[in-house]
Amino acid sequence: MPKPEKHVFICGQNRGPGHPRGSCAQSGASAVWEEFAFEFQQRNLGGKIGLTNTGCLGPCNGPHVLVYPEGVMYGKVAKEDVAAIVEQHLVGGQPVERLTLPKDVW
Ligand code: FES
Repeated sequence: MPKPEKHVFICGQNRGPGHPRGSCAQSGASAVWEEFAFEFQQRNLGGKIGLTNTGCLGPCNGPHVLVYPEGVMYGKVAKEDVAAIVEQHLVGGQPVERLTLPKDVW
């Protein structure tokens, strides 16, 4: 398998309902994952861009999505935001500023 040009990590950490720190799984990460997988399939991106489910990335209470090699972290990503991340960032090379975490967080 060739080295991917970019790699998308989606936090799937689950601390259960009501945990004070929250967790991405309790905030809808599985729907975000499914939407990325759908977009990758539709655009045939599977061989070019990696897609990996991870444990906690740090900020919590997301869903949070991390894209490398840029090291761009998106926060509070909704299923409806995924197409913009794919089109604008993964395909077009420009991060989606409205979804990036503030510098003091990441
Ligand atoms: S639980 Fe997702 S970043 Fe910590």
